[in-house]
Amino acid sequence: MKHSYTSEFRNVKLKPLAAEDIELLRNWRNDAGNAKYLRKIPYITSEMQKAWFEKYLENEDEICFSIFEQDVLNRVVGSLSLYEFQGKQAEFGKILIGDEAAHGKKIGLHALLAVLKVAFEDLKLEKVILHVYEDNIAARHIYESAGFVKKDSHISCGMTENYMEITPEAYSEKCKEMKACKS
Ligand SMILES: CC(C)(COP(=O)(O)OP(=O)(O)OC[C@H]1O[C@@H](n2cnc3c(N)ncnc32)[C@H](O)[C@@H]1OP(=O)(O)O)[C@@H](O)C(=O)NCCC(=O)NCCS
Repeated sequence: MKHSYTSEFRNVKLKPLAAEDIELLRNWRNDAGNAKYLRKIPYITSEMQKAWFEKYLENEDEICFSIFEQDVLNRVVGSLSLYEFQGKQAEFGKILIGDEAAHGKKIGLHALLAVLKVAFEDLKLEKVILHVYEDNIAARHIYESAGFVKKDSHISCGMTENYMEITPEAYSEKCKEMKACKS
């Protein structure tokens, strides 16, 4: 949907996804390595991406952000979303850091904490959930580091998929912990 939420955590700034970002996102999403643990979709053409973005702007059930690295790279390095709003709950996902220079800088974790700030402080949600494949080590690492707790697992597309949740209380604890340590 069209929105104006922004949020920052350390080297990361989240901004509303803009039309000028979508070609970058398309190239990253078409990369087989990036897409290994994402929903299987056919190759995305420029036209398909433009049509998706137009539809997204009208979709009241999804908030997309670009992930901007603001310390060293000073550019958009990825994207993420909150979606499937149900009362005081939403799902987090579709996180993709496609810029290879951005890996290993804790950008995933910082982007996640920044979006949880929007979820809990701006949108006043009471729970954020996510689904992640057991084999997706990098993603699981950042979700666990942010304070998400595994609640369940099942088989999806032949792989074990975990269901995880986080509450505002667990998010606040994590923020206090992160403020107490500098790295
Ligand atoms: C998930 C993702 C967003 C994380 O991005 P990132 O923050 O740049 O990831 P990093 O490369 O810094 O790795 C995150 C952490 O996992 C750890 N990690 C990554 N791969 C690992 C492995 N194979 N074994 C052990 N630890 C690993 C890293 O050491 C890092 O931990 P640290 O920050 O404590 O040192 C990124 O990998 C991505 O875009 N993946 C493709 C799309 C995707 O799968 N999205 C998730 C859908 S649920």
